[in-house]
Amino acid sequence: MSKVLVTGGCGYIGSHTIVDLINNGFEVISIDNFSRSNPLILDGIKAITGKVVSNYNIDLCDLEATKKVFEDHTDIEGIIHFAAYKMVGESVEKPLLYYHNNLVSLTNLLQLIEEFRVQNLVFSSSCSVYGNATELPVTENTLTQKAESPYAHTKQMGEAIIENFAKCYPLKYMLLRYFNPAGAHESAQIGELPIDRPQNLVPYITKTATGELEQLSIFGNDYPTKDGTCIRDYIHVMDIGGAHTAALKRMQQDPDGDWANIYNLGAGVGRSVLEAVQTFEQVNNLQLNWTYADRRPGDVIAVYADNQKAVNDLNWQLNYSFEDIMKSAYQWELTLADKVLV
Ligand code: WQD
Repeated sequence: MSKVLVTGGCGYIGSHTIVDLINNGFEVISIDNFSRSNPLILDGIKAITGKVVSNYNIDLCDLEATKKVFEDHTDIEGIIHFAAYKMVGESVEKPLLYYHNNLVSLTNLLQLIEEFRVQNLVFSSSCSVYGNATELPVTENTLTQKAESPYAHTKQMGEAIIENFAKCYPLKYMLLRYFNPAGAHESAQIGELPIDRPQNLVPYITKTATGELEQLSIFGNDYPTKDGTCIRDYIHVMDIGGAHTAALKRMQQDPDGDWANIYNLGAGVGRSVLEAVQTFEQVNNLQLNWTYADRRPGDVIAVYADNQKAVNDLNWQLNYSFEDIMKSAYQWELTLADKVLV
């Protein structure tokens, strides 16, 4: 059974990916310092899989502390690197926090990959590397534009650091560019845990539905789209997890392959904000308290993926629908009310 190190394993996408890895026979260890996540998620992973995942509560910016993980586990066959700060607005207010955390953690990891001769790396990247995409749907050959935020810039630089490192070290790697991950595992044992007030649409919707937040504002209804609201590519977080497992499997199956690749992880369908709200209301049989508001600075009008390269190269199967996203996100939100978050 292959051993995989997942950094940021207690985060939203990291935890869902760990569930999929375990369900596919991988042995998983995690590094997560809970700066942006909660240890409760480890209980959720155990409840779903029956497995206790060993998590090292250390900061990846601390090279010596991180090295201990590699000394304890000299049989790590692959690494999935999620650990990073990802709040666009916060990155604009605190750019150095983002450059330091997201880049020092990555270069430390690459240093240890070389020292301990790890062969496979999957990197958590983002559709935000495209900036204001010049074509739709976005393909992996779409030119990246100037990053709209320091967060997006750290993802662009992270990709370039890995590409240049792999020119002098025999690393197989995949850069996975997520579109808009949303939803939760159907058990409602794990899900998104926004730090403070949610920035993203779906958790804002679910917290409005439970009454934790008073009203959802739809930022802008005068865009040149079918209903005036922005278009995005919402993809179920379990499908994102499945893509990471598929990526590792492909590199294992084809160790001599040219695995220096970029993949868009989106559902391949553009949905408007209004459509998201209406779908949420329909599948959960409720009325949401929402209103139109001014546009949000920095929002792109429309972005959605051409995901065929990932589907074909990785044998990636998407198993969840837009309706599943809205249903599972709300089910998770409803269970949160009963959880005492440490
Ligand atoms: C989606 C749409 C908002 C909240 C973010 C990150 C990006 C990537 C994907 C990580 C927009 C509208 C939102 C609200 C609203 N993440 N909205 N009211 O900005 O597309 O992308 O997630 O890699 O880096 O920036 O996601 O969920 O914030 O917004 O109307 O209360 O919902 O205007 O059109 P976004 P989002």
